[in-house]
Amino acid sequence: MEEAGKTDGLGIKPLLRVLGRQHEAVPPVWMMRQAGRYLPEYRAVREKAGGFLDLCFNPTLATEVTLQPVRRFGFDAAILFSDILVIPLALGRKLWFVEGEGPRLEPLADAEALLSVRQEADQKLLAPIYETVRRVKSELGSTTTLIGFCGAPWTVATYMVAGQGTPDQAPAKNLAGQAPEAFQYIIDCLVDASVDYLARQLEAGADAVQIFDTWAGSLPPQDFERWCVQPTKRLIAKLRARRPGAKVIGFPRGAGKNIPRYVDETGVDAVSLESGIDRGFAREQIQSRVPVQGNVDPLLLRAGGGALDREVDDVLNAFSSGPFIFNLGHGILPDTPIAHVERMLKRVRGR
Ligand code: CP3
Repeated sequence: MEEAGKTDGLGIKPLLRVLGRQHEAVPPVWMMRQAGRYLPEYRAVREKAGGFLDLCFNPTLATEVTLQPVRRFGFDAAILFSDILVIPLALGRKLWFVEGEGPRLEPLADAEALLSVRQEADQKLLAPIYETVRRVKSELGSTTTLIGFCGAPWTVATYMVAGQGTPDQAPAKNLAGQAPEAFQYIIDCLVDASVDYLARQLEAGADAVQIFDTWAGSLPPQDFERWCVQPTKRLIAKLRARRPGAKVIGFPRGAGKNIPRYVDETGVDAVSLESGIDRGFAREQIQSRVPVQGNVDPLLLRAGGGALDREVDDVLNAFSSGPFIFNLGHGILPDTPIAHVERMLKRVRGR
């Protein structure tokens, strides 16, 4: 098996083979947010760490929680345990997490506030995260892919401007409309900080990286081009200038019909698909361009039973005849029973 994998030049990690456009009879599997609160072993470490950020910046504990889901389920990928909002923190913004609610930052109210954000990320602050990547890498089996990540500039900016998650990203959209040049400045800072962040993750041993653009779908076409496509394109071009051949998965969540354009312009190696997307469209217009990942509805994973079985079968029927990575359309929900994850994996792997 290993020899066959090596001789075609694509290596022995199934997920990396798919990113190299190889079709795998049984698709590699992992889950967004696979290290998280649905796991009792995660909750135990989380309690020991104190706050969520204490966990992100503690290489011993972050390594442990990164590996937990891989050990328990035999996933084909480990995703670095961290958060997209450590970049604003490294750019000098205050960041804290409110228990049961989510992230909070000091909001950026106007153009002047945007322009006051520092340009250079504090790499010393981020050093423990690269140390986690090194440690995870040294403990992973030879067939498991290590995925690093960052948030896309637009999505990170939505949190920086509003100071928290918002249902419609109105604060960022308004400020981008009122002060496009100042907004461009913050986007450019995020592009450069993210390039550096991802390049260092790859240097520390990440095999591939994913760019999470959770709020890409809230942008109308013109703004999608300016605030999602162009920054992502520059981010990837600059990353590949530093790390030639860097493998990048894009996740422009909610972008639907705009995804083919996103693929063509940004140069992503693969796209992660949200749950709502039309599967015929995705197969014909997206998977014909690049390998795809995702799409299983996290609500149906939580529901389990026959509804989950049908969802797994529908997703496999839609995508498994081409290069495909089995995953969810968004993060696993914290109240998802572990037995449902096991049931899903059995069905995908046929045992
Ligand atoms: O297992 C993994 O997927 C790796 C780790 C990871 C986390 N966040 C850990 C986390 C990744 C890849 C992220 C990405 C992230 N973070 C995104 C993009 C993906 C998405 O979900 O849309 C966003 C928007 C964030 C910002 C963020 N972090 C929010 C909005 C929240 C609160 C919501 C929540 O689920 O609690 C977080 C906290 C967070 N990030 C947790 C985890 C495991 C929960 C923290 C806890 O233990 O209480």
